[in-house]
Amino acid sequence: MYNLLKGKKGIIFGALDENSIAWKVAERAHEEGAEFVLTNAPIAMRMGGIKDLAAKTGAEIIPADATSMDDLNNLVEKSMEILGGKIDFVLHSIGMSVNVRKGRHYTDSKYDFTTKGWDVSAVSFHKVMNVLYNKKAMNEWGSIVALTYMAAQRVFPDYNDMADNKAYLESIARSFGYFFGRDHKVRVNTVSQSPTVTTAGSGVKGFDGFLAYAEKMSPLGNATALECADYTISLFSDLTKKVTLQNLFHDGGFSNMGVSDAVMERFTEE
Ligand code: NAI
Repeated sequence: MYNLLKGKKGIIFGALDENSIAWKVAERAHEEGAEFVLTNAPIAMRMGGIKDLAAKTGAEIIPADATSMDDLNNLVEKSMEILGGKIDFVLHSIGMSVNVRKGRHYTDSKYDFTTKGWDVSAVSFHKVMNVLYNKKAMNEWGSIVALTYMAAQRVFPDYNDMADNKAYLESIARSFGYFFGRDHKVRVNTVSQSPTVTTAGSGVKGFDGFLAYAEKMSPLGNATALECADYTISLFSDLTKKVTLQNLFHDGGFSNMGVSDAVMERFTEE
């Protein structure tokens, strides 16, 4: 390990179980010398194994529903107390669509569900940054990352309204990132990750086909959760200080492919 985050303090949202991308980020951040607070929605505390992760990484857990400004205010204040100062890095690794969960087709969305999923998956990122910005809770040259998916740019029919939520999330990163950069020298980026086998990922209809197709299309193959964590650690480190307002594809090259030999073979078989 490289001590890339030695002395840095962070908040990590979204570690539900050991498959979660946020779980891997927490493990890697710990290995790289960071101290951090883990947070998740109160209901997720009962389902997942976040306590094991906390024990392993010496982190404290503060429950927070990322759609609640009260919870987020409490989270940021308590985190600064626990960590003994301002924050250097924040990971937003949160996504949920009620329409997907309830099996509503995109063309037949229920708009209460749409609004709830949008609040959890996209607006929560604005709320997190609102609290960090207004409390002046971030150190200069700090780094904020949210995870996203390429359905924000291109059509993946079964991704449902999460495609719209991700487009909104990526836009928030740019819009808020401007003010955070100008006023506090904090960078804000989204990492657009390959399909990955996690609780949220597997909720997408036809996920296995999705995964296999992306694997065959990408010259380097799909990026794993651990590889996503490694990339995220680089974005939290001092080696990427001037990278901001970007949507960064971490997908083995998938996003720039038209077609690959491996996919062509499938269509030229006799
Ligand atoms: P996951 O299911 O392990 O993580 C999603 C997290 O969101 C869970 O920990 C859940 O408790 C949390 N969450 C839901 N509602 C919340 C709320 N109201 N307040 C606070 N937290 C809440 O799945 P995964 O895949 O690790 O997801 C992390 C991020 O990565 C999400 O933004 C997801 O969209 C994104 N992503 C996932 C991909 C995949 O194929 N798994 C691909 C590209 C991006």
